This record gives sequence, C-alpha cells and structure tokens, in this order.
Amino acid sequence: MPEDKSVVRLGFLGMGVVGCGAANILLKNAAMIEHRARCRFEIVKVAVRNPKKQRPVKLPPELYTTDPYSVVTDPRVDIVVEVMGGLEPAFDLLVTALKQGKSVVTANKELLAKRGSELLDIAKEVGTDVYFEASVAGGIPIISALKQSLAGETIHRIVGIVNGTTNYILTRMSRDGMSFEQALREAQEKGFAEADPTDDVDGHDATYKIAILAAIAFGFRIKVDAIYREGIRNIDISDIRYADELGYAIKLLAIAKQEDGVIEIRVHPTLVPKTHPLAAVSDQFNAILIEGENVGRLMFYGQGAGGPPTGNSVVSDIIDAARNIVFGSKARIVCTCRVNPKIKPIPEIESRFCLRMDVVDKPGVLARIASVFGSNQVSIASVIQKESQGETAHIVWLTHKTPYAALQKSLNEIKQLDVVLSVRPPLWVESD
Ligand code: NDP
Ligand code: HSE
Repeated sequence: MPEDKSVVRLGFLGMGVVGCGAANILLKNAAMIEHRARCRFEIVKVAVRNPKKQRPVKLPPELYTTDPYSVVTDPRVDIVVEVMGGLEPAFDLLVTALKQGKSVVTANKELLAKRGSELLDIAKEVGTDVYFEASVAGGIPIISALKQSLAGETIHRIVGIVNGTTNYILTRMSRDGMSFEQALREAQEKGFAEADPTDDVDGHDATYKIAILAAIAFGFRIKVDAIYREGIRNIDISDIRYADELGYAIKLLAIAKQEDGVIEIRVHPTLVPKTHPLAAVSDQFNAILIEGENVGRLMFYGQGAGGPPTGNSVVSDIIDAARNIVFGSKARIVCTCRVNPKIKPIPEIESRFCLRMDVVDKPGVLARIASVFGSNQVSIASVIQKESQGETAHIVWLTHKTPYAALQKSLNEIKQLDVVLSVRPPLWVESD
C-alpha cells in the first residue's frame, strides 16, 4: 500500500556550491516538482560549518545548525541530502541516517568509491535507498542511464572525460595559453574544484568516478587504490603544442573495459585524435562514451561540475527517492555487484604511446634509439625530428600498440644512452 505522504522532508548536510544549486532548484521549481513527484518538499534542517556565512540561496536562518548529527537523527527528516564532501564525518552520518530507515542522496564520489559498498549493504539490509547521480559527471544523468536505461545491456567499454577542473585547465592552457596555476585558480573560483584541488589535478577524483561507473557497468567492487592513476601535473604547454601539431588534443581520460571477464581500468592524460568526439569536449564539460553489445556507441555530454548542473542531479535523485517513499517502493534498485573479475595489470595493457626526448644532434643517434625500441619489440608508427637548437635535437616518437612493460623497458634503456639528454614522461594515445 502506498504510504500516505504528501510532504517529504529534507535534511541537508552542507549548503555550499552543490547544496545551494539543489536548494535553489527545489525553491524555484517547487510547483512543477510537486506535480511531477506527487509530493511537496520541505527543507527542515541544514548543517553547515558557519551558519553566519552569506549564501546564494534564500532559506530561513533558523534552519541552519552546526550539528550535522541533529540532521540525521531528526525524526521529521525523510531524505538526508549529503553535499558536504569528505570521508568523515560524512560516512558515519549517512550510516546513522540509513539505520533509521531514512533515504540518502549524496554527491560524494570519494565516499561512494571508497565506502559505498558498505552504505549500499546497510541500505539493502534496512530496505532503504542510496542515490548518487551527482557523484559522477555533475549534470550528466549517467548513473540512471547505466542503472535503468542500460539495465539489460552488456557494456564493453567506458571512456570518459569525468573531471571538469582538469578539463578546464587543459582547455585554458591549450586554447588561451594560460598557465596551469592561473587556470586552476579560475576553476576554483567557479566552484568546479574539490576542497583539496589536488584531488582533481592528480586524478583521484577521476578514479573515484570511474570506480563508480565500472562497478555499475561491470558488476564488481574495485578498490580505488587498484586503479592506475596519472594526473595532469606533468603536462606542460610544450606537450600541448606538440600534440596539437600531430593532430591530437590532450585530455584526462578515465577508461574501463571488459573483455573475456578481464577488466582494464585506468586514468591518465591521453592524446586524443582531433577527429575523436572526446577531443572537442572543452572547459568544465564532461563526456562519457559507452559501448554496449546491442546499443553500440552512446555519448553523454554536459557540464561536469558547478552548482546548477550538479544541483539538478541532486534534485532528480531527491524526486526519485521521494517517489519510492510516496509509493512504498523503497530499495527497488540496490547494489548490483555480483562478480569478482581479474584486473589486467598495467604492464600487460597495450596502447599507442607518444614519447618526446632531447638528444645530442649527431649522426647515428636516431638509429641507436630506434634499435632499442626494436630490440624490445616496440614498433614505431612515426618519428619527427624538430629543427636542432645548437647541439640538441628534439625528437617525437609515436608507437604502434605496444605493451606498457615493453615501452617502460625501452625508456629505461634509452635514458642510459650517453646521447640522450632528457626524456619526457610518455603519453598514452587513444586510438580506437
Ligand atoms: P562546498 O565546499 O562548496 O560545500 C560544502 C558544504 O558542507 C559547506 O556548506 C560547508 O559549510 C559544509 N560542511 C563541510 N564540512 C562540514 C561539517 N563537518 N559539518 C557541517 N557542515 C560541513 O563543496 P561542494 O558543494 O563543491 O561539494 C560538495 C560535495 O559535492 C563534495 O562531495 C563534492 O565532491 C561533490 N561534488 C561537487 C561538484 C562541484 O562542481 N562543486 C560536482 C559534483 C559533486 P560552510 O558553507 O559553512 O563552510
Ligand atoms: N571537482 C569535480 C570536477 C567536481 O572538477 O569534476 C565534479 O565532480
């Protein structure tokens, strides 16, 4: 029997960029949302650190508290909306809320990726819901697409730009010649970056997101530490310029593939051909390419960060959770993990790579380096030698597909050659 519930009450943990984005949509679109959700929403309590802070949302001052536990234990609250971030106290707060049968909506990818399985197990046990659309790719409805629209599909591959801050930085560096530091500052000012922006820059945020997507798509739980990760700190303007000359854009890609029950999962800066749809995704925008057995290729594109787009994802979860409350159908979609696949070790992964090095400009150098590649079975697709500056020549190599281990072995040997002055970190090249 449907529960008689015409008002669903919300308790917010946090009222920052995402919280204000969500609350403003709930306030502005109240009548439309009431009609669609078949219930009215009331925000009854909001936990923040500083209740005196000016916020871009009109909520009565008496709703604010500095005690987040008073939100999750408030008997009036039906849905706890966690938009505060961090592992603790967020985890303990959500466990407290779930154990009382409250539904939970969260935007916290770190929490989901690291401890989501525990939250989902508790939710299943007590028969309630955990929703987390906003945790991946801001305003793009990728979680509900995977959980609902693709529930019957076998997914082979997910390739995405899932971090808005790093995409913003790379775009501003390549398009406007801006420095890394200045672009990061702008991303922070616009509210895209994490509280600790090293989470974005060093690729942690993207590993959390690909862990969440892979768990749903492939049905397994992966520890984030098991995901290969490189951030964008090593990318400089010269990498971007050379890539551009060769016909590529540099993007921080998150990749997960499944083949014959073996999973490949990694996050790293990648040379993406300019003809590839992901190459055109700029600024804070995200895009996720999904390949399924029956649907073929699907591309999801939109704003991956910021208050209003992410707020929309939070609100859609609130409405879904409320419908379950109103119609007495909580815990319809629980954790779907069921397998324990092998994760392919990085040394075994095959990819194309781009390598740049400074060498002594004299006869026979190119041949010596090429012979190291050859002896390690690394096949070269193209090589460009830039005009020498004094005694130094700059060489750019593009390989055919080669195992990462063979590439690393070659590089270690090449670095020992007396004619090699410096070698830039290798860059992965997306070829599919
Ligand atoms: P903000 O820093 O803007 O907001 C965090 C809010 O939580 C603030 O209101 C802060 O209070 C409050 N808060 C933090 N710690 C506590 C605490 N211990 N007790 C009480 N209140 C607390 O973060 P965002 O809105 O940007 O991010 C929130 C979550 O959403 C994070 O998990 C983030 O990863 C995720 N996310 C963010 C996106 C974005 O574009 N920003 C996009 C998608 C997901 P006060 O305001 O007083 O400081
Ligand atoms: N810091 C994150 C990003 C926010 O830049 O993508 C959205 O998850």
